[in-house]
Amino acid sequence: MRGTFGLAGKRVLVTAASRGIGFGAAKAFLEEGARVVINSSNRQRISAAARELKAVGEVHAVVGDLTHKEDLDRLIAETKRHLGGIDIFVYVTGPPEAGTFLEKGYDEWEEAAELMVVSPAYLARLVALDMVDSGTKGSMIFLASVTNREPILTIATSGVCRIAISGLTRTLARELGSKGIRVNGILPGYIDTARVQKILDTAATRKRISRSQALRELEGEIPMGRLGTTKEVAQVILFLASELSSYVSGALVPVDGAYLRSVG
Ligand SMILES: NC(=O)c1ccc[n+]([C@@H]2O[C@H](COP(=O)([O-])OP(=O)(O)OC[C@H]3O[C@@H](n4cnc5c(N)ncnc54)[C@H](OP(=O)(O)O)[C@@H]3O)[C@@H](O)[C@H]2O)c1
Repeated sequence: MRGTFGLAGKRVLVTAASRGIGFGAAKAFLEEGARVVINSSNRQRISAAARELKAVGEVHAVVGDLTHKEDLDRLIAETKRHLGGIDIFVYVTGPPEAGTFLEKGYDEWEEAAELMVVSPAYLARLVALDMVDSGTKGSMIFLASVTNREPILTIATSGVCRIAISGLTRTLARELGSKGIRVNGILPGYIDTARVQKILDTAATRKRISRSQALRELEGEIPMGRLGTTKEVAQVILFLASELSSYVSGALVPVDGAYLRSVG
């Protein structure tokens, strides 16, 4: 058996996985010997990701925008066609647009709610119905953010709308517990992905400092003094997906190098 988490042969769906945290999670599952469907909204990028991951194991790409209902319906139908069902569901969202609260108008709030409230809830329901109907004792893992606990003012929509993922995780964990389905969330801090590189570029331009200075300033806010890696997030996802966490459900686990200050 491949891997250390006992996930060989498991049927896994990872959304928003053409790069970054989602891609890292998909790769980690493949290294464990799982069978994986990856999704993103861009055909070229998700096909390139699938080509790269095919060297590791069985992977299928499904193009679909997480903010379009018909794409969500098709994503689940195609995942079931490829894998025969879903044992593990990893929900990664597309990133919210940056900006402070006062910069955001009606359309942007509506867009953010679509991305961070409606999309995960609707997709989770489709997965839950399938797991319940097929008697699968599955695991769901929702990627959210440290903003679920402490807002970051430059991504106001995340601080307001992403909190829904915490409510979704707890609600589903309680409703599905009796069916043997576990539901958990992860709150990443600053993880080294294209998104964080863009945040650093923006900070450097705004503050008129060099990029390396912007990185030093950000690292100064993190007690462990560095960005996290997608592999470090993936290892926690594997743990939550596996039987090693068999009595963990409804948990929201920070993976943030001690960035969060709040207690509880
Ligand atoms: N990196 C961090 O430090 C960090 C910390 C906390 C939370 N997060 C959150 O975690 C999520 C992933 O972050 P990341 O750093 O991995 O971002 P990233 O490197 O920018 O990757 C984002 C992924 O989302 C996909 N995507 C974007 N919009 C989509 C849509 N509408 N439908 C389907 N897929 C979509 C992108 O693929 P396509 O462009 O191919 O569609 C890409 O694969 C984001 O929501 C981010 O806010 C990240």
